Amino acid sequence: MRLSIGDVALRPVTDADLPAIDAMFPDDDEQDPRWEHFAGLSAQRNRHRLLVQRTWHHRGSWSPSSWCLDLAVEVSGELVGLQALEADDFAKLRTVDSGSWLAVHARGRGTAMAMRTAILGLAFDHLGAVAAISCARVDNAPSLAVSRRLGYVENGVSLSDSPGGVVELQHLRLTRESWAAHPVKVTGLDACRAWFAVSD
Ligand SMILES: CC(C)(COP(=O)(O)OP(=O)(O)OC[C@H]1O[C@@H](n2cnc3c(N)ncnc32)[C@H](O)[C@@H]1OP(=O)(O)O)[C@@H](O)C(=O)NCCC(=O)NCCS
Repeated sequence: MRLSIGDVALRPVTDADLPAIDAMFPDDDEQDPRWEHFAGLSAQRNRHRLLVQRTWHHRGSWSPSSWCLDLAVEVSGELVGLQALEADDFAKLRTVDSGSWLAVHARGRGTAMAMRTAILGLAFDHLGAVAAISCARVDNAPSLAVSRRLGYVENGVSLSDSPGGVVELQHLRLTRESWAAHPVKVTGLDACRAWFAVSD
């Protein structure tokens, strides 16, 4: 499967991508504090181990009732980051969540907006989603700006633990009614429909 919008293309991450993805993984992508750290590894080694091991976990544990699609993001053919789309009980709840990061050198060029638009196009226009949710620390201005620009509205605040202490997370939600269609090209989805438990 492949998604594209302008010169930005997204496709599933493969093992061959992992060394490059690992090398460009930015320090400011927050990982879930509940993920276990191995005592014999530094914080940095644990971050990188988790990055790689999570992509294997997502592929190895995929089921239509709980999935996380990790997509490599390319700009004009150059790998620059990761965009994830995930859902639990999608056949009933029709709600997707997302997460993403970009290599530091690839920021500030509108790519974040394009990659989120691409996965929302897949979710709303091809998988039949009724809502998309997102959350970010209240001080994560770029992530929140992308969400707001795409029509997400605020949906509450929660507290979360983080390596730097307790932080506030801003939750957002976008409904199908508020989603404005964008020119996202999706190819290769038909062979994957059973994996998402969706029909044509
Ligand atoms: C989140 C991330 C993918 C955004 O990519 P980016 O290239 O930095 O984003 P952009 O520079 O395109 O900015 C996106 C929007 O935020 C706005 N923005 C950026 N910095 C801002 C700031 N300090 N204050 C207000 N708005 C800001 C931009 O103007 C832009 O909005 P616009 O398109 O309406 O002009 C990137 O910063 C990243 O990888 N961060 C680390 C991982 C992360 O936080 N992921 C999200 C977890 S929820």
